[in-house]
Amino acid sequence: MTAPEDKNMDELVALCKRRGFVYPASEIYGGLRGFWDYGPLGTALKNNIRDWWWRCMVDCPPIGPDGEPVAIVGLDSAIIQNPRVWEHSGHVGGFNDPMVDDKETKKRYRADHIYVFYPKNFKTEHKRFGIAVQASSREEAHKLRDELWESGKWSKVVFRAQKEFGFDPLEGAGVGAQYGDKVSDFLNVYGPNGEDIGDWDVITAEELDEEHRKYTTNLELTNFGTLTKPQMFNLMLDTYPGPIRDEDAKAYLRPETAQGIFLNFKNVLDTMRVKVPFGIAQIGKSFRNEVTPRNFIFRSREFEQMEMEFFCPPEDSQKWYDFWRDVRYKWWLSLGVAEENLILRDHDDDELAHYSSACVDVEYKYPFTAPGYGELEGVAHRGNYDLTAHSKSKEKNRDSNAKLDYFDQELQVKLQNEGVDKAEIKERSRYVPHVIEPASGLTRAVLVVLCEAFTPTPDREGSKYILSFKPKFAPIKAGVFPLVNKDGMPEVAQKLYLQLRDKWPVEYDGKQSIGKRYARMDEIGTPFCFTIDGDTLEKQLVTVRDRDTAEQETIHIDQVEAFLAQKLAE
Ligand code: GAP
Repeated sequence: MTAPEDKNMDELVALCKRRGFVYPASEIYGGLRGFWDYGPLGTALKNNIRDWWWRCMVDCPPIGPDGEPVAIVGLDSAIIQNPRVWEHSGHVGGFNDPMVDDKETKKRYRADHIYVFYPKNFKTEHKRFGIAVQASSREEAHKLRDELWESGKWSKVVFRAQKEFGFDPLEGAGVGAQYGDKVSDFLNVYGPNGEDIGDWDVITAEELDEEHRKYTTNLELTNFGTLTKPQMFNLMLDTYPGPIRDEDAKAYLRPETAQGIFLNFKNVLDTMRVKVPFGIAQIGKSFRNEVTPRNFIFRSREFEQMEMEFFCPPEDSQKWYDFWRDVRYKWWLSLGVAEENLILRDHDDDELAHYSSACVDVEYKYPFTAPGYGELEGVAHRGNYDLTAHSKSKEKNRDSNAKLDYFDQELQVKLQNEGVDKAEIKERSRYVPHVIEPASGLTRAVLVVLCEAFTPTPDREGSKYILSFKPKFAPIKAGVFPLVNKDGMPEVAQKLYLQLRDKWPVEYDGKQSIGKRYARMDEIGTPFCFTIDGDTLEKQLVTVRDRDTAEQETIHIDQVEAFLAQKLAE
């Protein structure tokens, strides 16, 4: 298996384009940053992951911690809702990112994505500058710093800095760092008079104080100029439904599918035979005006989410939080993701979203975060934040007409049987349910499955890459080929193709050499190819070629369907 560190994102992005998985949106007009189109194979892959999530979450959810099957129903709510929804949900006031502007280039960046390197014992009189890099974690910042250094371009920085302090750039006199030294060495030895100034700190642009800010110097590598103080920037994209275009008509494209679920909690409760605990699941598009969309489809402005809100009694919420945390981690393994590339990471208090009292992320080792990890799914304990926020309340000026609480008859009976006193029963059996929310990105899941499957095969004849999808998720399940386009082989191959096509997406290909046909199937991740050759005509034997090993075996033509069915069920 190729380690994430050894996978090149540029090569993966190029393969995705060349083989019809993902194209830049509006490409013939120069594209649009943060938007992507899914090609025929990308759509098939996305649908396969989506269907598996729906199967595991709605059609056949797991058995719960109490041994009972978990109940979850599906929903498909509108993307645009009454704008009051987003005021009460906290997204108008709280869904903000801290932004910094670059005074020289006028570009805007997320303050928590720009990392600035400063000496730990920074003193104003040192007149030392920061080195800014854009990254999504401190770990990534360090990695980026090292990569930039390895690229050799850091010589410029050294020379510039030397000049700034009056050193001769060519001789490097008085400066410990020379062109070719490791960045870490350079960072450790640098001083206005060449003295060792000790360790360097990595801080975000958000953490830059007045003193540091004065010395954010533009470095050619990173193109950061003087950074302003961070300011909050709302992430929701807005629109104006109807003919009038003024502030009162302003509505938002949903930034998460979750709110549509909370808005329909009462509808579902009243119309479906569900009782707490139960969940409502939804898959659909969400939109965020991300300031720095990047890393291919990892962070885009239009994306798809798979979210489930699980409503439970407040007193059982911890049990359900632990339950969903485990279930969701295992689900990612079921996609064929290797355990060593997947971790669970609890959020620190200062990372929690405005609605959440606890959150654990499932993180994946993407090629662009390795050896670190990046977010894939969050399992959040939302408490009763959302249902309360959307419940009618005069004092709090909440103008919805709903009371989103729940009377728990089973709990009432249980408490009665336990002899709990009447007042306490009344108090405990009517409540606003707590919510545990596993929320993941479908388009991000596509990226994870692509990254995991992407395997460079420089030594293999034909294909330079394999997309080693778990067969169940492969867009095309099998290729059916006649070895040559004569001698009655195409007719037999067509017959087999028509038989398999009835059950799965399979492809018939009779053109080009057999090696080229195999190579194409490897690159689009087709797990098996069935070739009709002389042995088929004589002995009814078909050659099966395995994508990952390139090994071939023969099976009877009557067994092909059963063979494929068994592999796809794994
Ligand atoms: N309802 C909770 C919520 O939306 P989130 O952590 O902001 O939580 C959930 O989003 C998931 O949606 C993330 O874990 C990620 O997989 C995906 N996601 C969020 N923003 C995204 C973006 N800009 N592009 C692609 N996927 C995104």
